[in-house]
This record gives sequence, structure tokens and C-alpha cells, in this order.
Amino acid sequence: MKVTIVGTGYVGLVSGACLAEVGNDVLCADVDANKIRVLNEGGIPIFEPGLLDMVKRNRVARRIRFTTDIRAAVAHGTVQFIAVGTPPEEDGSADLQYVVAAARSIGRHMNEYRVVVDKSTVPVGTADRVRESIAAELAARQAAVPFSVVSNPEFLKEGAAVEDFMRPDRVVIGSDDEQATHILRTLYAPFQRNHERVLVMDVRSAELTKYAANAMLATRISFMNELANLAEKLGADIEHVRQGIGSDPRIGYQFLYPGAGYGGSCFPKDVKALLRSAADHQQELHVLDAVERANELQKHVLSGKIRRRFGGKLQGLRIALWGLAFKPNTDDMREAPSRVLVADLLEAGASVCVYDPIAMDEAKRIFGADDRIVYATSPMQALDGADALAIVTEWKEFRSPDFADMRNRLRHAVVFDGRNLYEPATAREAGLEYHPIGRL
Ligand SMILES: NC(=O)c1ccc[n+]([C@@H]2O[C@H](COP(=O)([O-])OP(=O)(O)OC[C@H]3O[C@@H](n4cnc5c(N)ncnc54)[C@H](O)[C@@H]3O)[C@@H](O)[C@H]2O)c1
Repeated sequence: MKVTIVGTGYVGLVSGACLAEVGNDVLCADVDANKIRVLNEGGIPIFEPGLLDMVKRNRVARRIRFTTDIRAAVAHGTVQFIAVGTPPEEDGSADLQYVVAAARSIGRHMNEYRVVVDKSTVPVGTADRVRESIAAELAARQAAVPFSVVSNPEFLKEGAAVEDFMRPDRVVIGSDDEQATHILRTLYAPFQRNHERVLVMDVRSAELTKYAANAMLATRISFMNELANLAEKLGADIEHVRQGIGSDPRIGYQFLYPGAGYGGSCFPKDVKALLRSAADHQQELHVLDAVERANELQKHVLSGKIRRRFGGKLQGLRIALWGLAFKPNTDDMREAPSRVLVADLLEAGASVCVYDPIAMDEAKRIFGADDRIVYATSPMQALDGADALAIVTEWKEFRSPDFADMRNRLRHAVVFDGRNLYEPATAREAGLEYHPIGRL
């Protein structure tokens, strides 16, 4: 099938590559000429496991191409995916200007039937706005071209995006149009040979499903973070509690890890957007409100522990940081807890020496030139002369370090572990003063 992707970011590029992988003819468009240049030169602008090889082989086979020419993009695909960003506005609502601009450009250039698919995460009612935007453009040039608008939210996880797209838990299609539903079912058929994963529902329910999924996951994290903080005060071990409740099949083990707060491009903004939508409809979401507040506070938990340990004074101290990305296997630092920790530490007068396996370039772009921030070339090098270590992202390479080497390199062998990577007894037997989250 001929498929166009409008917006070649994380979601657009992964979707385009995976659709090309199963034999579709995909054209990815973006307004960012630099991104398209990198892609046309054989690179990819983001880090995502397995993605570079997949893009390369499909590019060579001419199943995926990249362009800034939106007219050509609209002329190409029967299916037009909108996968542009929906960043938060000042008031927390999703900024729909990119979605509307994409819809308008589709309306401006289409000359035959198109299925327009909202893949971006968008508030309930956005499909109507997309439909209106396309209709307005068609009316402006007095063109009567048929089209359908459907919602197909994306559930992939950064860090495992290719795997998630190729083997989805479910494919949600929000549609009230049989022709469009049939086309999307056909497009997704290769991804569900094992069993049917398509859930067809009305458009509004599909739009809400995406927010509900992220809100539920964020809720589990904030719930565990608050319980971990309480466990510390009560002298209980949150890891035992996690196993004790996770073994209940109604609860399950997933997403029950306490830590330094959730970040990334999705949970924070989607929670805010859902709260905003609810407020616009005079419907209070008390639980979600608390989820967000708890998360904002949790991002300061590590700096609070560090401050307390050093008697409130961090002036002149150097703190090593392991992990900057908001989670492992990505270079994405949007809303990452590491950013809050670095800001807190610098504000308190400390300097930092940071290391991340993948996100170093992204960190330099975000932090800019600042002589209080030193970039290490290895985890161990980050510790040289540092007064303490804070672990912020649970990269695999941090899971089994040489504790003796760590102890020797650090000025004070103090470790604040925001991801509970080690057994406290083991770390302590190795001579580290170990401060996990919610553990004894
Ligand atoms: N990143 C994730 O893990 C993830 C997962 C599920 C859903 N989503 C949702 O998918 C959407 C996209 O997220 P992302 O992380 O891929 O964003 P992104 O910022 O990585 O990519 C968006 C791309 O759209 C391009 N763009 C903007 N306006 C355009 C236009 N008019 N025409 C063509 N291109 C345009 C931008 O230049 C950018 O390259 C968001 O709504 C997000 O919430 C993201």
C-alpha cells in the first residue's frame, strides 16, 4: 500500500520504517529540512534500537523515502498518517497547531480519496478539527475530494519502539467509516499474524484510550513513589512490598518500580493535557491531579537526599551522575528527572560530572556551555574526584559495576540510587554508603 507519514519524528520514523519493512511503499515528510537531509544521507536523527538497520535496508530497497515536499507527500499515500508533535501549551493543553497545519496541507494538496489518520496523541474532538481543517482547504479551492479521518493512537515505547510496532499489544482504530476501517485493517494485518489485535471503536473513545493508558501508567508510578517515601519513614522495604502486591494478578508486577519520577515526551504532557481537557469540561480528576503533583515532588527526592546527607551544604561539592536520558535505550531527555537534579545541584552550589551511554550530545545541546557541568567519557571516569554518585537512569551497564573501583574513585563512597539497581546489603558490604529509594 502507498503510505505517507507527515511528521518524521520518533513515532513517524518508526511507523514509516516498520510499515516499509512489511512491504509498503512509504514516503515520510517533515518540515525539518535538517532531519530529512540526515535521513537521505543514510543516517537517523534519533537513537532507537534496531531502527537504523531497518531504515537502511528499506531505503536501499526504495520502500521508504524522505522528503520536505509536502505536495509530493500528499500525492503519494492513500493513507496519510499525521505523526507531528503535540507539545503542551502554557495551560497544559495539547498544542494542536502542528496537527492542524498538517491537516491543512493535506487538504490543500489532495486530489483523490485519502484516509487521514491521527497518530499523534490528541485530545478528544481533534479528529473533528482535522476534518474541518481539510474541508476548509478543499472548500477554498472549490474541490470536492472524498476523504476519511480516523484516529489510530500509537502505544509504542521509546527504547523498544520497533519491537512494539512490529508486535503491538493492540492496534486501536477509532473510526465511523467502513471504507477507512477496512483500509487500516489491511495495513495492520501483517503485524498480527499470531492473533487479532485490532480494536475498532468510535473516534472519541480511541482518542481517550491513549490518554487513559498513559494516565494509568503514570498513576502506578506516582503511587509507588509515594509509598516508597512512606516506606523509608516506616522502616519497610518497598521492594518486598512491590513483590507482595505484584503477585496479585489483579495488580501485576509491571510499572511498580519507584524511582526519581517519570519523565519523557509523553507521560508528563499527556497527564497535563488530560487534566486540562477535564477542567475544560468542569470534570475534576482528583487522582490524576495528585499523580502529577507527586511526580513533580519526586523529581526533587534525590537532591533532597543529597542535601540532607551533606548537612544542607553542597557548595564546592562535585556530584557524579549516571544516566541523563529519561529512560534507558533512548537519547531522549525531554522532561527527564536528570534535568531537575542537575538544576537543583547547581543551584545549591555543587558542580556535576555526568555520564550517559547515549544521551551525551543531547545533554550538551540542552545544558549548553556551563563550566559547572563536566562530561565524562565512562561511568567510572565520572566518579574521579566526585563527592558522591547519583544514579538517575537504569541503563544495563550500570547494573553490575566494580564496587571496589567505585569506592576508590569517589572522595566519599556515597551512592544515591534513584533506580534501586543494587541489593542494599551487597552495596554496603562492598563499602558503599548506599541510599536507595524506599529500601532499608
Ligand atoms: N515519542 C513517543 O514515545 C510517543 C509514543 C506514542 C505517541 N506519541 C505521540 O506522537 C506524536 C509525535 O511524537 P514524537 O515523539 O514522534 O514527536 P517528534 O517531535 O519526535 O516528531 C514530530 C515531527 O513532526 C514534524 N512536524 C511538525 N509539523 C509538521 C508539519 N506541518 N508537516 C510535517 N512535519 C511536521 C517535526 O519537525 C518533527 O520532526 C505526539 O503527539 C506524541 O505524543 C509519542
